[in-house]
Amino acid sequence: MTQQAELPVSDPGELAPAGPPPDTAELVRSLTARGEALLHGAAAGEAMECLRVASLLAGPGDERQARLLNRAVRQVVPRWHFAMMNDHERNAAYEEAIIATVRPGDVVLDIGTGSGLLALLAAKAGASTVITCEAEPVIAAAARQIVRANGYADTIKVVDARSTALRVGIDLPTRANVLVTEIFDCALLGEHALPALEHARRELLTPNARLVPGRGRLLGQLVESDRLRSHNNVTVACGFDVSPFNQFRSTEYFSTYLHSHDHRMLTAPFELLNVDFGTDQPAGTSEVTTLPVIDGQCDAVAMWFELDLAPGITLSNGPRHRYTHWRQAVQTFDQRFRCDAGLPVTLRVSHDRERVHVRAPLAEW
Ligand SMILES: C[S@@+](CC[C@H](N)C(=O)[O-])C[C@H]1O[C@@H](n2cnc3c(N)ncnc32)[C@H](O)[C@@H]1O
Repeated sequence: MTQQAELPVSDPGELAPAGPPPDTAELVRSLTARGEALLHGAAAGEAMECLRVASLLAGPGDERQARLLNRAVRQVVPRWHFAMMNDHERNAAYEEAIIATVRPGDVVLDIGTGSGLLALLAAKAGASTVITCEAEPVIAAAARQIVRANGYADTIKVVDARSTALRVGIDLPTRANVLVTEIFDCALLGEHALPALEHARRELLTPNARLVPGRGRLLGQLVESDRLRSHNNVTVACGFDVSPFNQFRSTEYFSTYLHSHDHRMLTAPFELLNVDFGTDQPAGTSEVTTLPVIDGQCDAVAMWFELDLAPGITLSNGPRHRYTHWRQAVQTFDQRFRCDAGLPVTLRVSHDRERVHVRAPLAEW
């Protein structure tokens, strides 16, 4: 196991300033902001608007224009929305939790409306008002259509905005006393749930608001699998060394169904994160020690969440939930490492409030 090196003590006056100099730091900030805006689809939204106008001008008979527009729409509205809305286990768990939580007269905030499904469930459960928001305007428009068609337009207000832009007195009549949300990716935090929930608690909810979900855990298991390794690593193809292509490997997790790859679980499930959505959760790093139950070569860590939606009602995308639309999160390690049954493996688990990253014991800490 890696030992933490002791840093030499030096005169503080001699220490180099931390980080880049101020001008460079400003450039780094502005390039990062631009990069993140592009990464999160600002350009796809613009492309869709251009192609929508082009398609209208070209007329309904122009199939090529219609297909181009559909291509842009598919970038703005990811395909997983369909699998998600058809994930009966997810829907049933949320429905049960909303019925158990929402009482007649409640003011409910639903962050991330999608089709409006959770807002509809909250209204059906007796909420007097439901305010639901959606960051993607075309999706918000569809939600409004669905709410109206189902007869809940008087109870549910759909706001075209990211939740962090909502204002009490403008978008919400008062602070909400119930929050429902499903903005979780396969490894829990990847859809910016933490900043959205912290903002909501501070600005949009009453102090003792009921939260659906109240807590989430990220669980993991170490895995041996040549198949999984082959999804993020190359060496030789047709006798040629193609390993320089490894510069494009994913250094973060990706989602996949574990059951679709031959694999051996080397450990029992262990906890990587335990998140109380009722309190602020700073970014952080912790060490997690797990005991392999069998000998093997570790290629990856498989991860999934468990959400506490209401007392006694949990929802998980673990490997036993074969049809979960989330699938599982898998992060492969740079180098496979040996596990011996009964000997501890210490992993370093960090999150930046968005993405979880696991470092293997052989990696340089
Ligand atoms: C995973 S989907 C869930 C949709 C719906 N609530 C459901 O359960 O069927 C999340 C949706 O929330 C939107 N979203 C994510 N974070 C948001 C935020 N902070 N504010 C507004 N919309 C958000 C996404 O664009 C996406 O349409």
